[in-house]
Amino acid sequence: MGWLGRDVVSIKDFSKEDLLEVVGKAAAIEKDRESYSQLLQGKVMASLFFEPSTRTRLSFEAAMHRLGGSVVGFAEPSMTSISKGETFEDTIRIIDGYCDIIVIRHPEIGSAKRAADIAKHPVINAGDGAHEHPTQTFGDLFTIKKSCGHLDGLTIGFLGDLKYGRTVHSLAFALSYFNPTIYFISPKSLRMPEEDLKELEKRKTKYYEEEDLFKVSKKLDVLYVTRIQKERFLNPEEYHGVKGVYKLDPSFLEHTKPGLKILHPLPRVDEINPQLDKAKQSIYFEQAHNGIPVRMALLSMLLKS
Ligand code: CP
Repeated sequence: MGWLGRDVVSIKDFSKEDLLEVVGKAAAIEKDRESYSQLLQGKVMASLFFEPSTRTRLSFEAAMHRLGGSVVGFAEPSMTSISKGETFEDTIRIIDGYCDIIVIRHPEIGSAKRAADIAKHPVINAGDGAHEHPTQTFGDLFTIKKSCGHLDGLTIGFLGDLKYGRTVHSLAFALSYFNPTIYFISPKSLRMPEEDLKELEKRKTKYYEEEDLFKVSKKLDVLYVTRIQKERFLNPEEYHGVKGVYKLDPSFLEHTKPGLKILHPLPRVDEINPQLDKAKQSIYFEQAHNGIPVRMALLSMLLKS
């Protein structure tokens, strides 16, 4: 399937070759960013953030600027005519006429698909509720490949809020192409959604569920830590029951194998002590910065293949 005009709604819509193509393009852009600086001159990206964001919104906007394009949009939906009662559908229809590509984050599962069904221009899902975050996954794959040298046959632990953690859902599907062994480490109430586990079984992906990080930490090549997503809990008591359940500090490294890489999509709260930041294993800030070449790659492929 060609890239020009394609929507990026779910990571499940992409083949292994697609994933590797984005990672390869991001590597080429990272090496020679200057050559791409005018590629999207005259193109406009609409950046529609119905939910808070630092990394995704600002790295998409910076990526578009670095490609010579321009950006319109909002980070505060209350300042748009939605506050006067305009529907989501009408909002997308109107903005679609002002731009060449739409990047959307919204708290509702399926919102990016709804936008893609309305818009004539490509729509990129920048996070739809607790469902998926496919562009984070492209960045995560790029980071893992760069730091581990390859993506094949890795043993990966996902730690924390696997129920609401959309970055985990997308990355687990993407990794399923690369023969991984996955440990899903979480409290029982925050397990991976059943339908996601069924999908991984269909893909014959080896996975195990565990509550105790220390039972498996020595096996891991990559540990992907996540924040407990307070904003997604319907019941505050339930949140307080799991708050702070995993907290990593430098002493954790005594329980890991050499070469471990620690990733986190960020923001973090208390699950990684800042004292761990200087360890060579900690690559979460590099991971966030990799959002630029990866999003430059995606925008250029969707608008100028
Ligand atoms: N990783 C991520 O999606 O971060 P933001 O919420 O800051 O965009």
